[in-house]
Amino acid sequence: MNPLNHVAIIMDGNGRWGLKHKNSRNAGHKAGINTVEKIIKASIKKKIKYLTLYAFSTENWKRPKKEIKYLFYLLEYFLNKRIEEFHKQNIRLNVIGDKKFSKKLNQLLKFVELKTSQNNKLQVNLALNYGSKSEIINTIKKMIKNKKKINEKKFFQQFINKKYT
Ligand code: FPP
Repeated sequence: MNPLNHVAIIMDGNGRWGLKHKNSRNAGHKAGINTVEKIIKASIKKKIKYLTLYAFSTENWKRPKKEIKYLFYLLEYFLNKRIEEFHKQNIRLNVIGDKKFSKKLNQLLKFVELKTSQNNKLQVNLALNYGSKSEIINTIKKMIKNKKKINEKKFFQQFINKKYT
């Protein structure tokens, strides 16, 4: 086993690269997709088990609408185009973050997750709509829900345990 089991990358610098080399931020995002492909290939070659790509944070919603639209277009394009190949290569795609997107994108994300769920060569975690604030809020919500369940269980248990003589 490679001692380097998990590599996590915060995607950054696409826009600056695009402006510098192609005079547009979106061209940088497009080039970023090619880099993602190269990183996936290299991860397989190096026998890395988990690759986490921090692609779109909750902060990123503050960007111009046109840029956001293009990023999601690229994401859909990338997934639709590559899913079969990833599946053949035994790559598992897992989406992390708050999955509050359009119905169409949510369906696509679910589809790629399900299709590749049994694959085990490399797991690519795609972090979308991620952010520390939303993670804390979601964790607290889960904790409250679990606590509620535990309390309900305890409540019913007292009746189950009661001996009717
Ligand atoms: C970082 O560069 C890039 C992003 C915040 C967006 C990356 C997401 C995509 C290209 C969508 C598809 C993603 C995948 C993984 C298929 P930046 O814009 O923050 O660059 P800057 O620091 O120069 O502004």
